Amino acid sequence: MYCGSTYTLHMRVYVLNGVNLDMLGRRDPAQYGSLTLPELEGKIREWGAVLGLEVDCRQTNAEGEYVDWIHEALDSAGAVIVNPGAWTHYSYAIRDALELLQIPIIEVHLSNIELREEFRRVSVVRDLAALTVTGKGPDGYREALEFLSKQ
Ligand code: DQA
Repeated sequence: MYCGSTYTLHMRVYVLNGVNLDMLGRRDPAQYGSLTLPELEGKIREWGAVLGLEVDCRQTNAEGEYVDWIHEALDSAGAVIVNPGAWTHYSYAIRDALELLQIPIIEVHLSNIELREEFRRVSVVRDLAALTVTGKGPDGYREALEFLSKQ
């Protein structure tokens, strides 16, 4: 007999903020806004909860730790949202780690990296991402979560 009980499966999403993003609130507000990282992560968790996503937010300034978290996501996450900060522009180690994942990768940048210095126009992870959101401030993370909630 069919058991009609209902249950919800929450997709676990890792939100991995990289180098210098712990300095939000003290970095140039014209590029990065005025929210601190804890304030930003609070918003991300709220948006995730509304969308029925289990959000795990982390930040590190250590590239190896960031790579380890991506490895962990292999077995523990249904999707990852990455803002690798400056690593975006040159870290093949992070790119190689992301390449292991069979789950959706969303790349988010608070600032519009296309309209800034030349070196920021290169993203070594972009072609691995199902979606890239730049220049929308904190709302970029909301857009990423909304995209994932529709997958
Ligand atoms: C950033 C853009 C990067 O170029 C920069 O190095 C950062 C933050 C962003 O969110 O706009 O640290 O990823």
